[in-house]
Amino acid sequence: MIECIEENYPKHMKYYQSYEKVYQDLRKNNHFNPLPNISLVDFFKQEVKSRLPLNDQGLCDLLEIGCGAKSLFHDLNDSQLKVLGIDISKSAISWAQELNKNEDIKYLNQDVCEMNFKEEFDLVFDGHLLHCLTSDEDRKTSLENIYNSLRPNGLFVLETMTAHKNMSFEEKLHFENNILYRLFTNVGYDLKFIDGVPYLPIRKIKTAMDVEQEIIQAGFQIIYLYVFGNRKIIPYEGRSVPLLSDPDSLRLIAIKK
Ligand SMILES: C[S@@+](CC[C@H](N)C(=O)[O-])C[C@H]1O[C@@H](n2cnc3c(N)ncnc32)[C@H](O)[C@@H]1O
Repeated sequence: MIECIEENYPKHMKYYQSYEKVYQDLRKNNHFNPLPNISLVDFFKQEVKSRLPLNDQGLCDLLEIGCGAKSLFHDLNDSQLKVLGIDISKSAISWAQELNKNEDIKYLNQDVCEMNFKEEFDLVFDGHLLHCLTSDEDRKTSLENIYNSLRPNGLFVLETMTAHKNMSFEEKLHFENNILYRLFTNVGYDLKFIDGVPYLPIRKIKTAMDVEQEIIQAGFQIIYLYVFGNRKIIPYEGRSVPLLSDPDSLRLIAIKK
């Protein structure tokens, strides 16, 4: 994705809300075609499909959070899935709606920290949203909202960045207390000053044990958790090739009891 932040955001805007500008800029780029992340689609096929919880009609009501401009499930054409994709970016959602050729997929512009679904879904899928929420409060609220949105025995499926001891970051990044900050100069954001220099929190990169505890504290029972040291997640938008020093990926499936 393209790095693009402007002067005209409201004060104290959080990093994840700036995704709107990212999608506006991507959309202006005629060469960019939103594509589902193949590795996440494989995760679904290999580990989730065989555990799919179904509703009374034998279908799975699936909420995809942070779906961006194209649902991961769009090209699967799996008739058991009834998908609602949500994203905080209005532009991502209107783009996704225009590209939509699958009538089992619907989209909605919604912030996961503000959504208010009550036992409406059999499965919630998060491909790389949670690590965009750097504040403990937002993470707690979003996990509560995810929990409440699921029916009993519903599944929460997550892939997120996780920390390892050989992580290192580029010079303009700063990692402290599980939060990755990016050097920044715009006063309109939640900035942290390090040695008098403004930094913006962009990612929360916890250890696998901390993610595990967070999910258990939200009321879930974990039934699958793997950390993949060979599958790195690039921590910010400035690079397209992963490095060994990038965070590992953690895949988790948890059940609402
Ligand atoms: C790193 S991207 C991942 C996109 C897609 N899931 C993928 O794997 O390619 C994170 C997505 O989450 C969305 N997002 C970030 N914070 C959000 C929030 N609070 N509520 C809903 N969507 C959010 C962003 O707009 C962005 O589309």
